[in-house]
Amino acid sequence: MARRKKIYEGKAKILYAGPEPGTIVQYFKDDATANNAEKKAIVEGKGVLNNRLSEFFMRGLSNVGIPNHLVRRLNMREQLVREAEMIPLEVIVRNFAAGSIVKRLGLEEGSKLPRPVIEFCLKNDELGDPLVTEDHVINFGWAAPPDLEDMVSMALRVNDFLSGVMYGVGIKLVDFKLEFGRVWEDDYPFLIVADEISPDCCRFRDVKTERKLDKDVFREDLGSLSEAYSEVARRLGIIAAAAPATKHSKLKLVR
Ligand code: TMP
Repeated sequence: MARRKKIYEGKAKILYAGPEPGTIVQYFKDDATANNAEKKAIVEGKGVLNNRLSEFFMRGLSNVGIPNHLVRRLNMREQLVREAEMIPLEVIVRNFAAGSIVKRLGLEEGSKLPRPVIEFCLKNDELGDPLVTEDHVINFGWAAPPDLEDMVSMALRVNDFLSGVMYGVGIKLVDFKLEFGRVWEDDYPFLIVADEISPDCCRFRDVKTERKLDKDVFREDLGSLSEAYSEVARRLGIIAAAAPATKHSKLKLVR
């Protein structure tokens, strides 16, 4: 492959300059991290699965009219995406209590929230991505009031879409994290869903057994992360039902 300019390397992805202005190649690594990278491992096949899963979810968003960064998948580990000015926030949507909200508010793990709860965290590894209020967001200029409104309404639309898709394959969407970027068309700015949507940044539970099918498997040492992600991909029809669960070198991908 021709040499490309690396723009940024994160914990799970590398960004390269794309073939045309305004595009970026997003490469999915096999690295898994948890607790702000205190825990690290290489999970063979994770990057391939997340590339396919994020493509699947972003395409689904496009189909229901939610703008997002996906242009097209390029190969097993890479996708071409729109370059965007990233909003330095993580937007978290919660349907059931899990993770940090359980500790913070003393909620019962797994309890249904009265309605989807939206939280904002500042993207800052040194500070551990702290929870921030909407007033912080506006006062410190991380996003303007109309951007906040757009992020909330788009996040709720993504929640409806994603909850429905996952419920259809017997999986409960507990919570997830989105990132947004700003793009310009004809001198008008608008926000798009960017980064990724994958089991790295969602909590998925089997509807019947409550089995964890997301990065909590790694966070809590519950077994094979690649098997959990493969299960999600199998149910969504992204990998063949008969594909071996653990031999990712032989993952049978379907269109
Ligand atoms: P939390 O319970 O740890 O706050 O996480 C809520 C959801 O957001 C969960 O699905 C994991 C996801 N998330 C990320 O993807 N990246 C992050 O940095 C954080 C804090 C959460």
